[in-house]
Amino acid sequence: MIFGQWMMLSSSGLTDSRRSRGASIARLYNDLAYLWPIISPPGEYGDEAAFFGDVVQELLGPERHSLLELGVGGGHNLSHLTSDFNCVAVDLSPEMTSLSERLNPGVEHHVGDMRDIRLERVFDAVLVHDAVSYLLTVQDLEETFGTAAAHLRPGGVLMVAPDWVQETFPDGWVYEWDREQEGITVNIEEVMEDPDPSDTQVESTYTYTITKDGETTVEVDTHVTGLFPINAWIELMEDAGFEVEVRPLPPNEGGYGSWLFIGIAGQGASG
Ligand SMILES: C[S@@+](CC[C@H](N)C(=O)[O-])C[C@H]1O[C@@H](n2cnc3c(N)ncnc32)[C@H](O)[C@@H]1O
Repeated sequence: MIFGQWMMLSSSGLTDSRRSRGASIARLYNDLAYLWPIISPPGEYGDEAAFFGDVVQELLGPERHSLLELGVGGGHNLSHLTSDFNCVAVDLSPEMTSLSERLNPGVEHHVGDMRDIRLERVFDAVLVHDAVSYLLTVQDLEETFGTAAAHLRPGGVLMVAPDWVQETFPDGWVYEWDREQEGITVNIEEVMEDPDPSDTQVESTYTYTITKDGETTVEVDTHVTGLFPINAWIELMEDAGFEVEVRPLPPNEGGYGSWLFIGIAGQGASG
C-alpha cells in the first residue's frame, strides 16, 4: 500500500475508529508492570542506547547535551544514557514511570501523553524509542512529531525508533523466550499478527507463564501497535519541519530492530 492510501485511510476515520485515547495502556505497563524488568532487563538495551548517544554526539558535538525521552517505559534504555546526557523522561503509564524513577533517580519524570504533553522548554535531543510503536494512526504520528518540534531547539535532533516498519513486519511471527529474576521465572510467548492489512494497526498477543514459589499462573496480554511504511515516517517528520535521515538500527535481543529516523529541527523550531 502506498503512503497516499494510508493518508486516505486516516482521513476517512477508518483507523481512528479503533483508537481510544488514554485507554491504550497494555497490561504489561499497568497491572503486570512488575514483569517488565524481568522480561526485558536493562542490560539488553546497552547497544541501542549507545547507538542513540553516538548519533547525538556525532551531530551536535561531544559535550553533555539535554535529552528528552518520550515513552521512557521502565527507563531501561535511558539508564545507559544518564551518565552522558541531562535527561528528562515522559511516559503515559504511572506504573512504568515509577519503575523508571527507581532505576534513574536523578532524572525528572512526568506522566503524560507524547501526543500532547508540553513541558514549555526545549532540549538538544528528543528520543522516541520503542514506545513510538504504540502510536496507531497518522494523526498520532503528526501530534507526536509536533510535540518533538515543540521541545527541540533549532538544529536539535529527533530520534524515532519504531519496532517495525511495514516493509519488514513479520506477519504470523511467533517468538518465545524465558527470563528469571529473584525467584520469579517467566516464559513469554509473543504472536504477532496483522488482522486487517487495510489499516495501520497490528496485534501482538503475549502469554506470560509466571512461576513463583512453586506456583504457576498464566496471563494473556494483547498489545495493539501501529505499522507504517518507511515513507510515512519520513514524510510526516518532514511535514513537522524536520530534515530527515534514515539509518539501520543494530538488531536487539528480541529480533526487533528496524530503522532509526533522525530529524534535524529547522530554524522555525520552538527554541
Ligand atoms: C516497550 S515500553 C518502553 C520501554 C523502554 N524503552 C525501556 O527502556 O524500558 C513502551 C512504553 O510506551 C508507553 N506509551 C505508550 N503510548 C504512549 C503515549 N502515547 N505517550 C507516552 N508513553 C506512551 C507505555 O506506557 C510503555 O511504558
